[in-house]
Amino acid sequence: MSDTVEPAVIVAIDGPAGTGKSSTSKAVAAALGLSYLDTGAQYRAITWWMISNGVDTAEPAAIAEAAGKAVIVSGTDPAAPTITVDGADVSAAIRTQEVSSHVSAVSAVPEVRTLITALQRTIAADAAAGIVVEGRDIGTTVLPDAHLKIFLTASPEARAARRSAEIAGSDVEATRRALVRRDAADSGRATSPLAKADDAVEVDTTELTLQQVVERVTALVEERRAAAR
Ligand code: DC
Repeated sequence: MSDTVEPAVIVAIDGPAGTGKSSTSKAVAAALGLSYLDTGAQYRAITWWMISNGVDTAEPAAIAEAAGKAVIVSGTDPAAPTITVDGADVSAAIRTQEVSSHVSAVSAVPEVRTLITALQRTIAADAAAGIVVEGRDIGTTVLPDAHLKIFLTASPEARAARRSAEIAGSDVEATRRALVRRDAADSGRATSPLAKADDAVEVDTTELTLQQVVERVTALVEERRAAAR
């Protein structure tokens, strides 16, 4: 038995929607006693604020001007993550179709990304044991020195089936089309697009259960920790 404290470990998990990022990230963080940050929830929260305050999401200049006004706070317990805007709990409000359809436009605005990236770096630096951060540009831009970078992929069909299973009464084909459209927007934007970092480990989850993905990622974190000792 050693009484040395493990140094903080930073894990970046990127990939498109429906690849199992959130479920995997929360489970890995819980298994290893780490904090957890859903950066998509932060972009959804600022998008919700823009819609609620009548900002035209087709106008990047209007979004850029208003971006600093929303106060976004993320709770990082993987068992009960929270998100508030100006003190109000928006965890349900940010999951609507309306927010999903505007979030790519809002998150493409460079001023929005600068603000949210700074917030993400502060949260990661404050996580005493370390943190699992999930998103699109974590390994490439937000935390390029992360100890482990994972890039999750899955076929569009598998991703659409998983997403529509989460939303009662949704149509799989319409969900697939919406996901593919959002991926194209997120991958094609000029600032910090969805991309795999050169040193990321790619995990295709199409044929894997959630438990298999969690075991693989947890083992990779433990390997990196052992190598650093
Ligand atoms: O993970 P999600 O589907 O809830 O993310 C919602 C949107 O937020 C996604 O379509 C693009 C944007 N996003 C981003 O631009 N950068 C991130 N690090 C995370 C999400």
